[in-house]
Amino acid sequence: MEAIQVASVKDNFVKTLEKIRKKHGVDIIALFAIRQSLAIHVINSADNPVSFSAGTIFNLTLTPLVEEFLFNVKTFENHPQKTRFALVENVQWELYIPVVFKEFPTGFVYVASKKKRDAEKTEGIIRDLQDFLKAHGLEYYFLEYSVVLDQLLTTVAILIDRLFSRVSRYTLNHIYNVAFWAEEIGKIVGLDEKRLAKLYLAGLLHDIGKVYIDERILNKEGRLTLQEYQEMKKHVDYSYNMVKDLMIWDIEDDVALWVVQHHEKFDGSGYPFGLKEEEITPEGRILKIADTLDAMLSPRSYRNPFPLDDVIKEIERLRGKDFDPLLADLTVDLLREKKESLGLFEGRILPATLIAGEGIHEGILRKNDGYHVFISDYV
Ligand SMILES: [Fe+2]
Ligand SMILES: [Fe+2]
Repeated sequence: MEAIQVASVKDNFVKTLEKIRKKHGVDIIALFAIRQSLAIHVINSADNPVSFSAGTIFNLTLTPLVEEFLFNVKTFENHPQKTRFALVENVQWELYIPVVFKEFPTGFVYVASKKKRDAEKTEGIIRDLQDFLKAHGLEYYFLEYSVVLDQLLTTVAILIDRLFSRVSRYTLNHIYNVAFWAEEIGKIVGLDEKRLAKLYLAGLLHDIGKVYIDERILNKEGRLTLQEYQEMKKHVDYSYNMVKDLMIWDIEDDVALWVVQHHEKFDGSGYPFGLKEEEITPEGRILKIADTLDAMLSPRSYRNPFPLDDVIKEIERLRGKDFDPLLADLTVDLLREKKESLGLFEGRILPATLIAGEGIHEGILRKNDGYHVFISDYV
């Protein structure tokens, strides 16, 4: 039986649990997360090394009975040894405390002892663990934040690829480009790393609702009729709802909020709410400019991309109208700086689609000396 590796978390997190374990004289405290992207953390006493088999944990987390532990605190006295839930040999007492994140049951803390315990002692440890979860429960998610983000990024990349590679190559390409530009602009305004990662995700997801838009409208060459345009505008609501469902870990609902604002304009003439200036989040304003930027820089089947000088002129023209004036200035600086490397698709290492000339190329974006290059499968 292969022993499960005890995952490493920030020291203080583990230390606090170990303190609680010692204080109450129990043999094991384990934290089970039902979200696959999160690790299982086991704190156990040195004289009781735990060797869960991976299979045990897997079966345990999959069994519907586990759901019982996701909603209510439960204790078991004189636990029958043969039960499938017994994780420690000769266990006499077990406790399950649900972990709830954003009203969403996400796992449970399991405590076990080889000695019997009275109700008073049980209450004491429940109180300490609940206090701990209150203080660290959310932090727990953020400890694993980069893991969640990385996995989510891959999931989203696959998702949008599945959704758009057949329906609209242009949209698929556009999504990556907007994410890239948003992140670049975000860097200049000095957003921290976590926010940048979320902004990148918002870029990937901003048009995801287009999957519900009629393909004939989505892929129409040239201008949309007024009616078609009204239909197209609905993608913002669709995107918002999809992102809200996807981003259950996003406690402030930031990503969904930024996404719903990507067609708002600085002067209040955008949609869906007609928000203006500071009513729009900085990230919403960044997405707006990134979105327009890519629309101008990308080739369409019916027109060539705008030359860079024309793009710059257009951004200056829309400064204070569509765009936050400060962001517009910073973007113009960025474009002048990037002039050299334009034509390369920069971004993260991701499966990507590139439309160049007549051809559609699938490949990956790979980091190369400070920027990313697109490496086509067909080269
Ligand atoms: Fe959009
Ligand atoms: Fe867009």
